[in-house]
Amino acid sequence: MTRRRRISTLCPEVVFDGGTAADGPTGTTLGQATRRARSQMASEAPARTRCMTGFQGTSETIVTQRLTLTGLTAQDADEMLEVLNDERLHVFTGGRPDTLIELRDRYRRFVAGPTEPGDVWLNWIVRLTHEGAAIGTVQATVSMRSDARSVANVAWVIGTAWQGRGYAGEAARALVDWLRAHGVDDVVAHVRADHQASIAVARRSGLHPTDEHIDGERVWRLIIHA
Ligand SMILES: CC(C)(COP(=O)(O)OP(=O)(O)OC[C@H]1O[C@@H](n2cnc3c(N)ncnc32)[C@H](O)[C@@H]1OP(=O)(O)O)[C@@H](O)C(=O)NCCC(=O)NCCS
Repeated sequence: MTRRRRISTLCPEVVFDGGTAADGPTGTTLGQATRRARSQMASEAPARTRCMTGFQGTSETIVTQRLTLTGLTAQDADEMLEVLNDERLHVFTGGRPDTLIELRDRYRRFVAGPTEPGDVWLNWIVRLTHEGAAIGTVQATVSMRSDARSVANVAWVIGTAWQGRGYAGEAARALVDWLRAHGVDDVVAHVRADHQASIAVARRSGLHPTDEHIDGERVWRLIIHA
């Protein structure tokens, strides 16, 4: 019998049939990229979120050809400051780099997760496997829509020194594969129309442009389960 991993719409507790139901969610890093990411940063549960306590996936380690994605911890803030402390990373997303204090505080809040039942926050530090060095982050916020479809809003950032080597595409694709394996129905990214690098990352991850625009960003989507 085929066992399909799928996020159940029931609350409060649901486990994938055939998957590993892990512990609790983590938080996010650079949250400006999507509205979901912004809601993570503000520690708000978006109004349309119903109940996502059924999704128990955590940011478990993901290994790709060159990269190892490790679940974000509060201790990562110090190392990530060097990666993220760059105004150029905010050209398309707005905002400014965090100070060390702000980043430590942000990571602590993200690891603690949302205070209300709602979205599930998932964050990974992107590391070069051979060197172990942190070079960026990928994130996903999983929500249950009013039509009972689970939607993951995803975003990515790679430190300027490591850009242009295919790392974002490799990490984002692995993230989408992980979300697929954990039963998410739709994957969505919000990308500015003039952000060519991020558009390429979205495309490489299997997302397609839609006619929807939110806050000046085009919505890209991958429908995993029709
Ligand atoms: C977007 C970002 C993650 C891309 O990181 P990256 O590691 O340089 O991306 P990759 O090397 O994987 O390149 C992805 C694709 O973009 C293309 N690309 C990279 N820079 C580009 C540019 N300036 N113009 C056009 N295409 C570009 C690459 O050729 C590659 O295309 P391909 O997949 O067809 O080969 C990085 O620029 C970043 O962190 N920016 C700041 C944060 C941000 O804006 N995040 C996105 C929010 S939606």
